[in-house]
Amino acid sequence: MNPFKFSNPTKILFGRGQVEEIKNEIPSYGRRVLLLYGGGSIKKNGMYDQVIKALSEITDVHVVELSGVEPNPRLTTVNKGIDLVKDNNLDFILAVGGGSVIDCAKAIAVGVYYEGDVWDIVTNKAAAEKAVPFGAILTISATGSEVNGGSVITNWEEKDKRFFVSDLTFPKFSVLDPENTFSVPKNQTVYGMVDIMSHVFEQYFHASSNAPLQERFGESILQTTMEAAPKLINDLGNYDYREVIMLNASLALNGILSMGVQTDWATHMIEHAVSAVHDIPHGGGLAILFPNWMEFVASKRPEKVAQLGIRVFGIDAKDKNDSDVAAETIQKLREFWTSLGAPEKLSDYGIDDTEIGTMLERAMVAETLGSYVPLNKNDVETILRKSL
Ligand code: NZQ
Ligand code: ZN
Repeated sequence: MNPFKFSNPTKILFGRGQVEEIKNEIPSYGRRVLLLYGGGSIKKNGMYDQVIKALSEITDVHVVELSGVEPNPRLTTVNKGIDLVKDNNLDFILAVGGGSVIDCAKAIAVGVYYEGDVWDIVTNKAAAEKAVPFGAILTISATGSEVNGGSVITNWEEKDKRFFVSDLTFPKFSVLDPENTFSVPKNQTVYGMVDIMSHVFEQYFHASSNAPLQERFGESILQTTMEAAPKLINDLGNYDYREVIMLNASLALNGILSMGVQTDWATHMIEHAVSAVHDIPHGGGLAILFPNWMEFVASKRPEKVAQLGIRVFGIDAKDKNDSDVAAETIQKLREFWTSLGAPEKLSDYGIDDTEIGTMLERAMVAETLGSYVPLNKNDVETILRKSL
């Protein structure tokens, strides 16, 4: 293992009815609240009313709302939020939504205290120095943003999607009530589960040695997700399946799987580039790209893919070499995701090679991407073309 530091200060409030707890949590940080949410799902499923009720029980509370945070949240919306916080002297942000709303809250939180353009922080040209405290009420299990300090923001005008990570942008608390995810439609539920599994892969395929516990943790998350996934898509209002997936999502990206290992994340970088240019759902992009990434790296280093296949996909490796087992593993992964209804090709979203140059340019934020097998620009192009 490499030397590492670990701290995860987010308080998790897990289970039925936990939304009410916000009235006890928020006053420790402030009473002038920016209530941030997305395109309206929380109004349709009744969560908005629940949240307003819980907020109204805080003495002297003052609430300003910002709705319409886009999936793949945009810099323009972050800037609106920064202005609202400054103009109304707000001292707390409550994000009610998925990764997009929570990521937007994080960028607003640091942007308020930064004199320049917050895009400087998102693109890591400037470091965040202070943040408005914020909390999250999660409505979709996917990104793990509810328990980490990462934020992904899209600059639509520049067709660029970038991320920053800061110790200052962990939510103070996150409410994880599985019932709040009952209304997530099937396609978004599937994208979420693909994202969870992809987060494990990004950390499982690392460039370090001697991390057996981290790998076994990752395998447990994969197995548990794969057990629940087919049942959940046929029973979207099932509390038991929703709660298992919710905990899996949070544990897949709260930092434990990365302890002491040099993680990969190349596929996420490529997906961010695709959705920066074509605005597709994050999990949908990953479902298309990951098997092709795995095929590419298996041609150079099949051993970890084979390990995954044997331990998670139950492949019998007797009399087979690593390359054969790896090929079977990738086939099984494809079949599993397709059986859930995930997309397989970029053309499923109407994407062809017209903008491949821009996607490549956006993906290559460094000379090479990833660490399990570092990818140069040609390698990334190969993966993108196989995904078309
Ligand atoms: O906007 P509303 O109307 O709320 O609808 C949303 C949105 O259309 C809907 N939805 C959410 N909860 C719902 C619901 N619909 C019905 N009932 C509910 N309870 O689902 C749609 C997608 O929401 P979004 O927040 O975009 O999904 P997700 O959580 O997958 O977030 C994706 C974003 O997070 C970034 C992605 O790149 C993407 O921008 N990521 C953030 C990460 C992080 N901060 O750690 C890591 C990830 O790898 C990822 O890159
Ligand atoms: Zn992801």
